[in-house]
Amino acid sequence: MTVTFISGATGGIGKAFAFACALKGYDLFLTGRSEEKLSALKEEIEKGYGVSVEIFPCDLTNSEDRAALLDFAKSKEFIVERIVNVAGVDTQLAFKDYTAEKLIFQVRVNVEATLYLTHGLLALKKGNAEVITISSMSGVSPMPYFAVYSGTKALLTNVFTSLHYELKKDGVKVTTVLPGGVYTRPDIVEQIKEQGLWGKLSAKTPEFVAERSLKAVKKNKMIYVPGGFNKFLYFLMKIAPKRIVLGFIAKRWKTQKKDAF
Ligand SMILES: NC(=O)c1ccc[n+]([C@@H]2O[C@H](COP(=O)([O-])OP(=O)(O)OC[C@H]3O[C@@H](n4cnc5c(N)ncnc54)[C@H](OP(=O)(O)O)[C@@H]3O)[C@@H](O)[C@H]2O)c1
Repeated sequence: MTVTFISGATGGIGKAFAFACALKGYDLFLTGRSEEKLSALKEEIEKGYGVSVEIFPCDLTNSEDRAALLDFAKSKEFIVERIVNVAGVDTQLAFKDYTAEKLIFQVRVNVEATLYLTHGLLALKKGNAEVITISSMSGVSPMPYFAVYSGTKALLTNVFTSLHYELKKDGVKVTTVLPGGVYTRPDIVEQIKEQGLWGKLSAKTPEFVAERSLKAVKKNKMIYVPGGFNKFLYFLMKIAPKRIVLGFIAKRWKTQKKDAF
């Protein structure tokens, strides 16, 4: 079976990717933590779209779980034609307010698991393949008071931008996606609302992000930033002096908290 792998398939953006891929007729290999949510998603997609869906519940912080996911893919003889890295933890705290467990948890899910699974699943491709990785606008500049999340996303953007070049000769198209706000969990929707006009201009629906990202990777775009306002911010953050950008970000984010632990 030739599959599109999606991590974080039970969340807002991951689910939107699952439906967008199913609409294109892609058979799916989905993961998330909750077996119950994955089973419900499998049933809904198989009934509604006529594609095959394989699921494997996995806690991405657990190295045995991650290895078991790859063993499962090998035992099923999956041919991986597309990898969509969505799973991520967006804890937003001042550095001193983290516990050691929260630090490690965030780095394991966002970075360790994404690299491990991409590496293992790419070995199961035959011929061409596509890799989409959901990074974030939050990784474009260092972000005081959102430092760890920003750092994990900057790492993903750097690694997958390098892979865009490195894997071209192997027939792999690699696109890194940098969304601003995306209307997913209620706490995120609330935070976008609190940002007023800024939030409104920056935020997109998960469906918009999924559909456009699938188009972007087909065109072999290195980086895809969803939405005109975010493209403008991306450019601004690249050219503005770092000290000014850091001061602006610190002022904006000092009062915001999210704890996705
Ligand atoms: N929403 C935004 O504003 C926004 C903006 C930019 C970038 N992003 C990025 O987009 C991605 C998805 O965000 P979202 O808003 O869709 O988040 P979400 O609704 O909270 O979904 C997160 C997904 O990651 C999975 N996950 C979390 N921890 C896990 C773990 N330890 N093991 C396995 N799976 C785990 C969740 O599985 P369970 O359902 O089982 O918990 C869920 O499927 C993240 O990488 C985020 O950083 C989001």
